[in-house]
Amino acid sequence: MIKSRCIVSIDDVSDSEMNEIFDLTDRMNESLESGKSITTMKGKILATLFYEPSTRTRLSFESAMQRLGGSTLGFSDVKSSSVSKGETLADTVRMAESYSDIIVIRHPLEGSARLASRFTAKPVINAGDGSGQHPTQTLLDLYTMKKEFGKIDGLKIALIGDLKYGRTVHSLLLALSRFKVQVTLVSPPSLRIPQHIISKVKDIIKIEETDVISHVLPEADVFYATRIQKERFTDQNEYQSLIGSYSIDSELVSQMKETAIIMHPLPRVDEINPSVDALPQARYFKQAYYGVPLRMALITLLLGGEN
Ligand code: NCD
Repeated sequence: MIKSRCIVSIDDVSDSEMNEIFDLTDRMNESLESGKSITTMKGKILATLFYEPSTRTRLSFESAMQRLGGSTLGFSDVKSSSVSKGETLADTVRMAESYSDIIVIRHPLEGSARLASRFTAKPVINAGDGSGQHPTQTLLDLYTMKKEFGKIDGLKIALIGDLKYGRTVHSLLLALSRFKVQVTLVSPPSLRIPQHIISKVKDIIKIEETDVISHVLPEADVFYATRIQKERFTDQNEYQSLIGSYSIDSELVSQMKETAIIMHPLPRVDEINPSVDALPQARYFKQAYYGVPLRMALITLLLGGEN
């Protein structure tokens, strides 16, 4: 159903497509756990054009394609590509099109992935466009919540940290508005989620905004922490004044419900103390693991490997 499409915004994925992706993610997960090898993408190539740093997103896309029997090429540092010689995004994408079957792009400018998708007929996946969106992260975030609680409807979710520049929370909030959830946005006043996102969701789901984390502690089912996006600040003094705004440690966790989970797209800086890693609420590493089966499912559906 989703074959040959671009995934630039989370709105590019319909509800039924999301269910299709999650069902196939379950099957990919089973294959990974049982060690069964899959070769459906044999002969297919995935290109990764990464103009910004990445660990999980790029490696999990590469791992996903290789676990499907396909192969990968690309760059993870513009200095080693012709971008450093002044090549335009359009030309780089045209080249990637002729060398591969599907293109994953991360770029510092908002709107860059949509622009890239205009220069190729091949599927383009947005792996983060500046402070715009990060739709595949959102898919794995929702998948994690669904696996943990059986369903997303009914959850109370706190999104915490840099909600202004954090692209993961932009896509996530838009997606959460499709479910019957209550969301509390916890951020310093200067890092509130942009109005254009709030205005899309505020009449659909119940949303509260606050700068104090304490009152959500005993209530929320999901604590989704995010990093202050250092690279988006023009004034590094402002960044310095905001780091450490919310730091989840064992003392805060002791005020959460036993059944609550803590998520984070990673990398973390000081948002979650390492002492939390061993606590039953910590789910961020499992969440990152789901990136592989989920991206295996997505690549398979986009390239029509199921048919
Ligand atoms: C996020 C990103 O790049 O937006 N990382 C990721 O893809 N898992 C979050 C971040 O960098 O803070």
